[in-house]
Amino acid sequence: MMQHVIGIKDFSRGTIDAILNRAAELESVACGGSSNILSGRILATLFYEPSTRTRLSFDSAMKRLGGNVIDFGSIEVSSIAKGENLADTISVVSGYADAIVLRHPKEGAARMASEFSSVPVINAGDGAGQHPTQTLLDLYTIRKESKLDGVKIALVGDLKYGRTVHSLAHALSMYNSEIYLVSPEQLKMPDSIKDDLTKSGTKIIETTNIDDAIGVVDVLYLTRIQKERFPDPAEYQTVAGSYKVTKDTLNEVKDDLIIMHPLPRVNEIDPDVDSTKHAVYFRQSFYGVPVRMAILSMVMA
Ligand code: NCD
Repeated sequence: MMQHVIGIKDFSRGTIDAILNRAAELESVACGGSSNILSGRILATLFYEPSTRTRLSFDSAMKRLGGNVIDFGSIEVSSIAKGENLADTISVVSGYADAIVLRHPKEGAARMASEFSSVPVINAGDGAGQHPTQTLLDLYTIRKESKLDGVKIALVGDLKYGRTVHSLAHALSMYNSEIYLVSPEQLKMPDSIKDDLTKSGTKIIETTNIDDAIGVVDVLYLTRIQKERFPDPAEYQTVAGSYKVTKDTLNEVKDDLIIMHPLPRVNEIDPDVDSTKHAVYFRQSFYGVPVRMAILSMVMA
């Protein structure tokens, strides 16, 4: 049984592979089926930041496994609006549920919450920190739609504030990958993560030019510029729309390239690309259900 799911660095490759294998077993249940593995269990979802996929796929995963979900709605209608702090909310909610999914704007919030919780806490994004369950579904997608071990991948866009790429980069360092880090100068991957990658023997190539990567990679992982995390909105305007993939961009790519995006997209991928064989981002968001089923069953069953 796993305890909390806070950062991907807490997991070994063996544990990650076990989660991905479990997700593969559960995929048919995710796809219109049902099971009673978690019947009688309750999951609490606490989202202090907007979410569509993460919230709904956890909800769907829990219900397909026969469990129930409680959710505090928006922060305006909960006691947070009265000034309740996170520690108190967690102490209370851990008495109402068997696990807690938390998304919070502060980096480190999930780890702090785990110290006040008597049940497992699953980090669904802590500010610009980590997003480990997204990473697990990203790895599942790469394994299923391309190849994971030895993958050549480009992480493109906001590598400074994007939590999905922070977690994913750490995980990829366990899979003999070669990583192109493609971002505007102001939005480079933090040095601490680059140091970890280098120490693990991962080959990294840092560039501002997507053309350096596009013809050689197996996976193009695009991200949204995280507008809400910019201290100065004028600075966002200088980098908005830095990279955009269109059908024309795809002339030079490997035949079996896959294009991924954690979504939501703003204008990183032209809708023209959706109908090409390279587009896997909508399947990727579906894989959130079996992967989160695997995680929920491992923390609660
Ligand atoms: C991401 C997030 O919240 O970090 N969304 C998601 O969970 N799929 C990416 C983003 O918001 O850009």
